[in-house]
Amino acid sequence: MFPEAIHRVPGCANDGKIPHVTNWRTVSLDDGVVSLRQWEQADRDDAFREPELGRFFGSAITPSPPVDDDEMPAFAIVLVDSEHVVGKIWCRAGARPPEIGYYLRRDAWGRGYATRALTLATDWLLLDAGFTEVELCIHPGNERSHKVAERSGYERDGTIEDYAQFKDGTRRALRFVRRGSQPHRERREG
Ligand SMILES: CC(C)(COP(=O)(O)OP(=O)(O)OC[C@H]1O[C@@H](n2cnc3c(N)ncnc32)[C@H](O)[C@@H]1OP(=O)(O)O)[C@@H](O)C(=O)NCCC(=O)NCCS
Repeated sequence: MFPEAIHRVPGCANDGKIPHVTNWRTVSLDDGVVSLRQWEQADRDDAFREPELGRFFGSAITPSPPVDDDEMPAFAIVLVDSEHVVGKIWCRAGARPPEIGYYLRRDAWGRGYATRALTLATDWLLLDAGFTEVELCIHPGNERSHKVAERSGYERDGTIEDYAQFKDGTRRALRFVRRGSQPHRERREG
C-alpha cells in the first residue's frame, strides 16, 4: 500500500546540494490504482484535445528559462488494471520550485485519479528527487483543481497577479504549495 508501493529509483535523490531531477524517464510510480510512467508521443489522443480540458490553461507571461528536456518530467497517468492512459501530469519547464500541471480526459473525471497522480508525483519530488517545495498555480475559477490540490496535501499560499494570459482575459492565479519530506497519507478508499 502507499507509499511503500512507490518504486524508488537509485540515483534520483540529490546529494543534499542542488536538487536535480535526472532520472525521471526511468521512474515508475504506483499506488495500486494509478501508475505514472514517462509520457510517450503515442499517448496523444483526441480525448486530450477537448476544449474543456484547456479552459483554465493560459500562456505564460514570464517565459520559462531554457532547460534541458531531461529536467522536465512528463508522466502519463495510467490505470493499473486496464493500462488505459487517462491523463498527463508534468513539471513546467525551468520552474523552481517545481510547478506541476495536469489534466484528465473528460470521461475519467470524478474518480480520484488526478488526486492520486498528484500525490504520487509530489511525494516523488519531495521524497526522492530532492526538492523541499512543490507548487501549483491554478486559475481562481478552477474549483475542481483547487480540490485536487487540497486532497493531495497542498495549502493555499497567496496569489500571483500576473501569472498567465488566461482564455477569459484574466491573469491572476492562486498559488498552492506542499512542503516537507513526509508522504501525503490522507487517502480515501475508492
Ligand atoms: C482538474 C481535473 C484533473 C480534476 O479532475 P477530477 O476528476 O475533479 O479530480 P480527481 O480525479 O481527483 O477526482 C475527484 C472526484 O473523485 C471523487 N473520488 C472518488 N474516489 C476518490 C479517491 N479515492 N480520492 C479522491 N477523490 C475521489 C471525489 O469525491 C471527487 O468527486 P467530485 O467530482 O464529485 O467532486 C480535471 O477537472 C481536468 O482535467 N480539468 C482540465 C485541466 C485542468 O484544469 N487542469 C488543472 C490545471 S491547474
